[in-house]
Amino acid sequence: MLTEKEVLDLIDEAIEAQKGAYAKFSNFKVGATLIDDRGNHYSGSNVENSSYGLSMCGERNAIFHAVSQGMKKIQVIAVVGDTEGPISPCGACRQVINEFATEKTIVIMANSKKEYKVVKFIDIFPYGFKL
Ligand code: THU
Repeated sequence: MLTEKEVLDLIDEAIEAQKGAYAKFSNFKVGATLIDDRGNHYSGSNVENSSYGLSMCGERNAIFHAVSQGMKKIQVIAVVGDTEGPISPCGACRQVINEFATEKTIVIMANSKKEYKVVKFIDIFPYGFKL
């Protein structure tokens, strides 16, 4: 299990990533940082587009960046947004996390005030689709 310091450090990294968000249309900035099975850290933020449907979530940008650098499995992923309580990752991002998750993968849901919830990915996305 993660220590409180490890959780808070990863939230800090996600808050740093959140600063890079391009959220011109929703004004809702999201940052995500993951640690892979090698211990490497990768971050991403949401990037929106004038053609709204082309916008991409912070979690998926972090994951796609990590995959392009050789990431195979996600140990833990922290997500931060300016929500009332901890942010909850969208369904599309859960399906993408599922592709690289193990039975041990942890999701840290947090907000900018560092209120957080630590959950096992399998508990928030059971029966995920996989080929
Ligand atoms: N967003 C994320 O980055 N992650 C989520 O899990 C939910 C939503 C982004 C998409 C869009 O840029 C903005 O938040 C508002 O929906």
